[in-house]
Formats: sequence, C-alpha cells, structure tokens
Amino acid sequence: MEKRIRETELNVIFETCRVIGQALKLDQALDTILAILSSSLAMKRATVTLKDEETGYLIIRASHGLTEAERKRGVYRQDEGITGLIFRTAQAYIVPDISKEPLFLNKTRSRHIQKESITFLGVPILLHGKPIGVLHVDRLFGDEVPFDEDIRLLSIIATLIAHFVSLNLQVRLREAKLLMDCSYPGKSASEAQSRFFMVGKSPSMEVVQHQMEKVAPSKAAVLLLGESGTGKTLVARILHDLSTRSASAFVKINCASLPENLLESELFGYEKGAFTGAVRSKAGRVEEADGGTIFLDEIGELTLPLQSKLLRFLQEKEFERLGSTATRRVDVRVLAATNRDLAAGVAEGTFREDLYYRLNVFPIHVPPLRERKDDIPDLLRHFVEKISQEYGRNVGISKPAMAVLTKYDWPGNVREMENLIERLVIMADGDEIDASLLPSFLSVQGNDSQSVEQPLSRIEEIERKEVLAALERNRWNQTRTARELGITLRQISYRIRKFGLDRLLEKYRKGA
Ligand SMILES: Nc1ncnc2c1ncn2[C@@H]1O[C@H](COP(=O)(O)OP(=O)(O)O)[C@@H](O)[C@H]1O
Ligand SMILES: [Mg+2]
Repeated sequence: MEKRIRETELNVIFETCRVIGQALKLDQALDTILAILSSSLAMKRATVTLKDEETGYLIIRASHGLTEAERKRGVYRQDEGITGLIFRTAQAYIVPDISKEPLFLNKTRSRHIQKESITFLGVPILLHGKPIGVLHVDRLFGDEVPFDEDIRLLSIIATLIAHFVSLNLQVRLREAKLLMDCSYPGKSASEAQSRFFMVGKSPSMEVVQHQMEKVAPSKAAVLLLGESGTGKTLVARILHDLSTRSASAFVKINCASLPENLLESELFGYEKGAFTGAVRSKAGRVEEADGGTIFLDEIGELTLPLQSKLLRFLQEKEFERLGSTATRRVDVRVLAATNRDLAAGVAEGTFREDLYYRLNVFPIHVPPLRERKDDIPDLLRHFVEKISQEYGRNVGISKPAMAVLTKYDWPGNVREMENLIERLVIMADGDEIDASLLPSFLSVQGNDSQSVEQPLSRIEEIERKEVLAALERNRWNQTRTARELGITLRQISYRIRKFGLDRLLEKYRKGA
C-alpha cells in the first residue's frame, strides 16, 4: 500500500517534469499537469489560480473538471475566500466538508454535485518563498490515504508549477528584449556592447541602460551628467554604437583641453591664412563627424563666445570655417557630457540658458559608484579579468582584499577603480591580489577616525575622505593634490595634520 502510493507519486512527479518543455505555453502546460493528476489519482476537480501582476487579483489560469463558465467566474480578491486565505497566509488549507465551511465561497458553483462528502484542499504556489498563486484539488488519493499525504504531493506539484511560471516569465522577458534589440535600425545592443561593455546591474544603472536603449536610435541630443570617472564617455561611445550612425565616425572633443581660439578652429576648421601659422586649410572635427556623432566632453568648460557658436551650430547644423564666409552644413548628432551643475552655471550667468535647454533635451545621470555599491564586485572582477588579460597574467582577488575593496567609497569612481586594479595586477606576485597589497587609505576610511584626537563632524568626515582620496590619486604629492582640490599648499598641509593623515604620509614616504 505504502509502496503503491510512492510509485504513483513518483510517476506523477515524473510525468509533470516532462511537461517542462511546454513551459512556453503556460496555460497549456498547466492544463496538462492537472490532466496528469486526474488520470493518475482520484482527483476530479482542480484549479491553478495565479496572481495577475497588473490587477493583483487571483485568476484561475488552468482547471480540470470545471466548465468554461465555472472557470470564468473564478476570479478572487486576495482577501476573499479560501483561495485568498491560502494566498495570504502561504499555508496549506484543508476543508473536510465544504458545506460547513463559510469561507468557501463556491464562486464556481460546481461543487453542489457532490455536496457534503467533498473535501477540498489547497496549497500555496511559492516562488522563492513568496506566494504567486494557489493550487486546489478536491482530493488526490482515495479515502484510505491520510490528508497529509495529499498535501505533501500537492506541495511538490505546486513547487514544480512555480518553476514553470518563473521559466515562462523569464522566456517572455527575454523574447521582449530580443524584439527590442531587433527593432534597432542599427546594431543590436549585444553586438555593440561586446566592444564597449558596461558592467552594472544595480537598479540605478538599469535605469541608465534603459534610457540609453530608448534614446540611442533617435537623433536627439543627449546630455550626460555625473561625477568624473562614472562612465559618461563610455555611455556616449555605446550610444553611438547603438545608433544608426554607428558605421560613421564617433568624434570626441574635450572642451577643457584647448584654449578658446584653438578649440574653435579644432571644431569648425580654418582656411589658409586665417591666422598666423595657418599655412593650409583644415577641415574641422564637425566635418569629420558628418553622418556620425560628435561628443563634446566637459561642455561646462566652454567659454561664452564659443557657447554662442555652438548654439547656432546645434540649431542650424551650419557653421563657417575660421577665415571663411562660406557656410557649410553637416549632419551630425551631438552628445555632450559634464561633471558640472549646468543649471547653476545658468543661474550664475556662466552658461547660456538657451544652449542649456538645447542640450538638456534628454539628460542621463550616471550615478557615482558610492550610490550603487551593488555594482562594485562585478566591476572589480571585470577590471581584474580585463587587465590581467592585457598583461598576459591570470590574477584573481583574495577574499579579504575583495571585502576591503567592496567597502571603499571610490570618490574617483570607476576610473579610480580601473587605475587601482591596474597597479594591483602589476604588483601581484602570484595569482592573487592579496589584502596586503592594498593601499592603506582603503581600509582607513570610516572606522579609523577614532584615532583622530577630536571627533570629526560628518562634513569633516566627508572632507577627510576627499582629501585622502585626492592625496592617493596624486601619490601623496601635496602640490599636485592642492592644485587638484583648488586649495593652497598651506591649506593642504593643515588638513593633512588636522585629519591625522600625517601618519599615512610618513608610511607612504617610507614605502615609496
Ligand atoms: N559600468 C562600467 N563598466 C565597465 N567599465 C566602465 C564602466 N564605467 C566606467 N568604466 C570605465 O571606467 C573608465 C572611466 O570612465 P569614463 O567613461 O571615462 O568616465 P567619465 O567620462 O564619466 O569621466 C573608462 O575606462 C571606462 O571604460
Ligand atoms: Mg569622460
């Protein structure tokens, strides 16, 4: 007897597992599962009720032994009846005699045939411990088998159903994504990202990636905002590759790298004799970008006269080379990036308002790394792998080192990480980056502040971290650090003492 139950159970589970190939057609697969239960066991009626994501209602998705009309009536609120109860409590529920159970709503009105003798049992369908629906049957085994046997088998079946539902959802999401990729007139996202890959599964980076996918195929100007080193240039590069212009040039200009007059001739070109030294005519970078994309990095550094010229170019796509009156036209898409607050620049009068609005049609904020710490481990692994490969090494990160690197705030963002990993890969002796290789400031931040005599305020804590990171970036060269931070040498040495960084400075000097 016991043995026969086991055999029947195993058979049912086995048959159910075979339906997995049908998971793409979920309703059909669920019907098949219920049919298996009915043909192998004593079950006459069963329903699979799943929560509808949009409405939150519990809706019968598959049934056995119910007419179409009965099936259609089977929609429950989550606070309604036994189905709702099982769903809310995530507990199995047995009704020995339906006619005496007020909770049983009999919405489907099919139970009146068998009346009092019918028992009714239900188990929650749980996915990762959370209810997504309810599986009901009137019974599984005959009267001679105790209920807990029924419940046990039913729970196994419910678990299998949960995985069908999950698999089905994953396939549908993947399909939707593929459809989106294919609808790009240019290259598919996966193709483009194989060259320029963006690591980041954190919610805020998913927003960024979603915005990128939306705006890439359009001609709209995109303004990339975010701190230095967060990945703005990378985003611009990927936007170009995802666009219809990917076969044409991606031209990058750093607006901070050249003085005003040189920048203008670089952008728009010049004619022979336009200025001393202009011995022959030269096309501007905007001409080079014709049909493609021009990326204006550090746009916040542009002087007001050049801002006007750029505005005209953005509006009319027209320009003149320096020393020429002939108006030229090009077809370029403009992407821009800045780590400045342009709106503040507008308020202060250093940035033209009309240019700001022109550029700000589609802003994308790339968040600093400290605001998406979830991404740190993946980024670390990405860089270790990439840089190891470049150096022909095979290096990994030890667990303790990983722990320190994951906690760090990365004020210089992804760029700081990439640079540090490069140094660590070079320095690693064996096949592992050990915690002993890490610069001391990494583990000093935060918990070491007790060693400073005066307790620091939160603002001072932040300042201390910034100063420390800047010192490290500049290899503890105080002059360079002061320049980077825009303070005097005296101010930096005062801060080094005030924040108790002089011990670290000593250590660095001894080590270097
Ligand atoms: N999400 C990311 N995944 C992989 N590499 C990244 C990511 N973000 C930035 N990087 C890399 O970090 C470095 C700095 O990024 P970059 O785009 O130059 O920053 P920004 O332009 O904002 O200063 C680049 O080498 C870039 O390729
Ligand atoms: Mg950049």
